[in-house]
Amino acid sequence: MLAAQALTSSVWFDMRYRHAMEMPIRLVSIQLADTLRILRGLPLESVPQTLPHLGSDSFRLALRDGPMPGMPRPDNTLEAVQDILSQSLSDRLGSGVDATLLSAELADDAGKSANVWALLNAREPVGHFRIALQLPSQSHQWIEVMASEAQGGIEAKPFSIVADYVLRIYVLRIMVFVAIALVAVRLALRPLRRLADAADALGRDLHSPPLAEGGPREVRQAARTFNLMQRRLIQDIGERTRFLAAVSHDLRSPITRLRLRAEFLPPGEMQDKFRKDLGDMESLIASTLDYIRGEDRSEPRQSVDVNSLLAGLRADFEETGGVVTLQGQARDPLPAYATSLRRCVQNLIENAIRYGSAAHVRIEDSAQALRIRIEDTGPGIPEASLEQVFEPFLRLEESRNLASGGTGLGLSIARSIATAHDGSITLRNRSEGGLEALLILPRRPR
Ligand SMILES: Nc1ncnc2c1ncn2[C@@H]1O[C@H](COP(=O)(O)OP(=O)(O)OP(=O)(O)O)[C@@H](O)[C@H]1O
Ligand SMILES: [Mg+2]
Repeated sequence: MLAAQALTSSVWFDMRYRHAMEMPIRLVSIQLADTLRILRGLPLESVPQTLPHLGSDSFRLALRDGPMPGMPRPDNTLEAVQDILSQSLSDRLGSGVDATLLSAELADDAGKSANVWALLNAREPVGHFRIALQLPSQSHQWIEVMASEAQGGIEAKPFSIVADYVLRIYVLRIMVFVAIALVAVRLALRPLRRLADAADALGRDLHSPPLAEGGPREVRQAARTFNLMQRRLIQDIGERTRFLAAVSHDLRSPITRLRLRAEFLPPGEMQDKFRKDLGDMESLIASTLDYIRGEDRSEPRQSVDVNSLLAGLRADFEETGGVVTLQGQARDPLPAYATSLRRCVQNLIENAIRYGSAAHVRIEDSAQALRIRIEDTGPGIPEASLEQVFEPFLRLEESRNLASGGTGLGLSIARSIATAHDGSITLRNRSEGGLEALLILPRRPR
């Protein structure tokens, strides 16, 4: 980029140099044409006497002996100025005029040879030219013309030159570069975005539609690999679930047999312990099967009346002595998986009752999301474990010692249901004591 800037800056200087030369050489060539016209009308012998009268301070003429010199080391600029001179003379006098540019130089306002900065700052750079002119029908004598001309009153303001420089060369080009770079980056990143979206969707729903396998080779390959990963995940999880379901299911028969045998034990403490352990095992199996069922998302989405869902849950809990208070109303039904959503809220309320003795449920509805807060006044959860408790089968030490009989699956099930609704569950210890579980269900799922 810097190299490009330097290169174009030098091109600009070159152009500006030639541009500053153009007006002076045109003015000089007009005078030259007039002079030649006069000389052509004169007899050859009177040329030396007339010559000094034809010139001025800025347009000096001198007769030189010998053959006319050629252009010294012509460079691009000199050639360009020579072209303007020849063209201008032949426009005025027709062809056959022999004028050779010997030197051309630009001087700044102070009369110094113009370099980059001087050229940028000079208001009216002056062109100094040395031109060799062949006398008509003379080969051993020529006229040396030393002429200086400025910009003929067309002054280029330094500020406008700088502004022009900055605007054209830098600002415009950088804007174009940036625009092209932005478009290119956007185009290049589009497949990556699609991949990120697909990964996000996969995280929420393992059965989300596969990625389109189109585009450039690398993108196609990435999409194919991604889809393959999704198929393997589905397969793996399916296998594990089936295995877990089979084991849980098959454990039921031996447990039932054990229960029968426990009935033949002599009544007393031992029998009670057996019954309790068997009860725990049965509820563990029941929750595991529930969990597996929760993973199976065959249930259709439907419009769910959250108010009556919560009222129903409260009635159920109250039947078994649980205290549930309800506050707030959902304004509209929510598109949701009815049975799953019920299980999700039920698990949260159950925790509040089990660990905090009562559940206080608050509903906050808005156009964006439905929020259900479940608060209790129990011991809460140590800050470090607030995320950990969502892991399946994880129960905190205190709860294990409690004879509460949980399996550690409730929160894990609740979160996976919330995620299936594009929502979330977060836990927070309340400053007043107790835990708050916040379930957010967006009204417009992604
Ligand atoms: N409201 C709460 N107050 C205090 N601790 C809680 C609360 N809710 C959950 N916990 C802690 O988080 C752990 C995990 O909860 P989770 O609901 O997943 O399992 P569980 O209640 O032990 O068993 P399950 O819900 O499967 O019958 C609990 O064992 C308990 O230690
Ligand atoms: Mg629980």
